[in-house]
Amino acid sequence: MSENKIFQWTDDLSIGFEEIDLHHKKLLLILNKFKDILMLGEAEYKIQIGKIIKNLSDYTEYHFAEEEKFMKIYDYPGYEAHREIHTSFINKLKTHLPILLSGNLQKGAEFSNFLGDWLLDHIAVADHQWADYIHSKK
Ligand SMILES: [Fe+2]
Ligand SMILES: [Fe+2]
Repeated sequence: MSENKIFQWTDDLSIGFEEIDLHHKKLLLILNKFKDILMLGEAEYKIQIGKIIKNLSDYTEYHFAEEEKFMKIYDYPGYEAHREIHTSFINKLKTHLPILLSGNLQKGAEFSNFLGDWLLDHIAVADHQWADYIHSKK
C-alpha cells in the first residue's frame, strides 16, 4: 500500500476568515477519517467508504458554494477561474466514485493522497489568493 499520509492543519493555512478555516479543518478531518478506514482491512473499508465519500462530497460542495459567495460579494476578479477549479475537483471526485466504492485498498490509498495533497495545495495557493484580495479591499 502507498504511504499513509496524515493531513495536518498548520496555522499558515489560515486564510484569515474563521468560518472558512473551520471548513478547511473539517475537510482535513474527513480525509483523515478516510485514511483511518484504509487501515481496517478490505471488508470493513468496503462497508464504511460509501459514507465517508458521501460526507466528503456533500461537505465539499457546501464549502465551495460558501467560498464562491464570498468571492462574488467582493467581486473577486479570479472568481470564474476559481469556480472552474472547484467544479473540476467535484467532477474528479464523481468520476472516481466507482473505483473508490469497489473497495480496492491500493486505489483508495492513492486517491486519498491525491485528495489531501490537492486540498492542502488549493488552500495554500488559490484560497489564499481570493482571501488576500478581499482582505486588501476591507
Ligand atoms: Fe477552500
Ligand atoms: Fe477554493
